[in-house]
Amino acid sequence: MAAVAVPKFLADPFSLGVASGDPAPDGVVLWTRLAPDPLGGGGMPPQNVPVGWEVATDDQMRRVVKRGTTSARHALAHSVHVEVRGLEPSRWYWYRFKVGSNLSPIGRTRTAPARGTRLDKLTFAFASCQHYEDGFYTAHRHLAREDLDLVVFLGDYIYEGGVRTGRTRQHNSPEIVTLDDYRNRYALYKSDPDLREAHAAFPWIVTWDDHEVDNNYAGAIDQDASSPEDFLRRRAAAYQAYYEHMPLRVSSLPRGPNMRLYRRLTYGSLAEFSVLDSRQYRADQPCGDGHKERCPAAFDSRATLLGTSQEHWLLNGLDQSRARWNVLAQQVMMSQTIEVAGDAKKYGMDNWNGYVAARNRLLSFIRERRPSNPVVLTGDIHSNWVCDVKADFDAPKSETIATEFVGTSISSGGNGNTSPAEADRRLAANSHVKFFNAQRGYVRCMLTPARWQSDYRVVEAVTRRDAPLTTRASFIIENGTAGAHPA
Ligand SMILES: [Fe+2]
Repeated sequence: MAAVAVPKFLADPFSLGVASGDPAPDGVVLWTRLAPDPLGGGGMPPQNVPVGWEVATDDQMRRVVKRGTTSARHALAHSVHVEVRGLEPSRWYWYRFKVGSNLSPIGRTRTAPARGTRLDKLTFAFASCQHYEDGFYTAHRHLAREDLDLVVFLGDYIYEGGVRTGRTRQHNSPEIVTLDDYRNRYALYKSDPDLREAHAAFPWIVTWDDHEVDNNYAGAIDQDASSPEDFLRRRAAAYQAYYEHMPLRVSSLPRGPNMRLYRRLTYGSLAEFSVLDSRQYRADQPCGDGHKERCPAAFDSRATLLGTSQEHWLLNGLDQSRARWNVLAQQVMMSQTIEVAGDAKKYGMDNWNGYVAARNRLLSFIRERRPSNPVVLTGDIHSNWVCDVKADFDAPKSETIATEFVGTSISSGGNGNTSPAEADRRLAANSHVKFFNAQRGYVRCMLTPARWQSDYRVVEAVTRRDAPLTTRASFIIENGTAGAHPA
């Protein structure tokens, strides 16, 4: 379909804001979507529309260094993904879009350092789980004001459920299934000004978890016993809407129900991010879903969490990495977590605890091949944890071979709590767990060649947009020594 004359807009076509992502040394992805009627399908005519973009070295857009025109395609909900090239490494840029006489808000982004160069410092925040009904994006409001190089988002950007009453705010439809449903749900989430601010402030590296499609789905299997054919149709709609709303490269453009999301990003010699997808290729939960005692199938080597190709890609990448810090940006808890001490040891079957053989393959690889400073970043469970990743979790004295930081939710679960009883119980049952907390927020990470510091930033409440933020705890990893200790 050819691009045609720009339509007249009755409302702001840039209602969903702007975003940037996947920084490279010479460029980033710039994103927007034209949607003058964001909650009602977008409100665009069924035509492709030309959109101008420009990149400047100042926040007033006076010194423009790159510009171009792209097409907001009807088939992709008039989303725009510009892969800018030819920028300088390690530098801030500002960008905006133009359609007709309408200008978008100005976003700010930053390129990665040149490959292999020494980088003295990298600061980023990681976050996950932003259920719209459960609270405001108070945490994003604070995150947008941090001094960061980038944001890493670990999934549950949207939730697929219908409307629940008695919450802070409400979803806009029953459970989402169709492409239009998913598009309108992303638009609802992006109607939040604090989320838009956080996107406009930094480049994001994104991956998904389950709720971008359906709770606890595994490959072609959903939680409702739908046929795989039906579920893959739904998955295709969900993946397409995800692509349409995220600052991703064209290499992630979905083909039907398949979409390549796992990828690697490098920050000089300081850090390499292996961004994982633990949903699309996984085997069905070997022991079923829920929290229960493990069955023998959890130890079956065929029960894959990443799928064979991604697992090989991950291990090869770790083996070849020259980076000081090797970051696994992923979704579900990797460290063993026994939920009830005593005779009945219960484990979360949807995380790595239900896929023990797959976890053991990764742990054996780390123990034998010794990639430099592996650090696992995790979302999913709406609570903060710091864990020693053990060579053998059932042998507390076994070697600590990696570190896991689990970040709480932005809003999912509501205000959370500071009760020490739950933390005491979890730490008592798991000697490799150093910290637990159930408030809302995000984790700020400051990396140098010598050490990594994670600050657990928590908000007082998510029922108020302006609730204050504090640092609940800070943990440090020294270069060359796996495991974190209090700062
Ligand atoms: Fe979640």
